[in-house]
Amino acid sequence: MAAPLRAHPMSYTTQRYDFRDKPGDYARLAQDLSGLLAGETDRLANAANTAALIFAALPEINWAGFYFLRGTELVLGPFQGKPACVRIGLGQGVCGAAAVQRRTLVVPDVQKFPGHITCDAASRAEIVVPLLEGGTLIGVLDVDSPVAGRFDEADARGLEALAALLVTASAARPAR
Ligand code: SME
Repeated sequence: MAAPLRAHPMSYTTQRYDFRDKPGDYARLAQDLSGLLAGETDRLANAANTAALIFAALPEINWAGFYFLRGTELVLGPFQGKPACVRIGLGQGVCGAAAVQRRTLVVPDVQKFPGHITCDAASRAEIVVPLLEGGTLIGVLDVDSPVAGRFDEADARGLEALAALLVTASAARPAR
């Protein structure tokens, strides 16, 4: 008999996340992400599952994914949502600005952010979290919403915790 395919147990259900208690739901989401990444160090695979988990769990979003630093550009990584621009220069758009500033940027209205790069015309709000590994920038986590003002400081802290889990889980196996 053939050996069964190796698979992670999938322990989450999007029903649990209504985000009326944002810190609590982000904490539960972080626990589920830890389980999803446990035992796997491949950053590409882990980034793909992280993007899928965020996209499935968070209400009112239309894009969630990663850009990884390649030289002086951010290059598109695993994501969920409509096809997106592939390369973003450091300092360009919300992603490039967050990367250069090495801090999370919460943009309530992308139409008021100078230099915002439009990938999906439906996007109205955006949050970008830099991925830092031992102080070194390796990429960004980007989440878009069709709802202006969708993201706040609770989203920033929650998504920063998820991004840190991805970086830590995959420290030994960069996405290159
Ligand atoms: N809006 C981003 C570009 C990436 S897409 O939103 C997926 C930016 O301004 O950097």
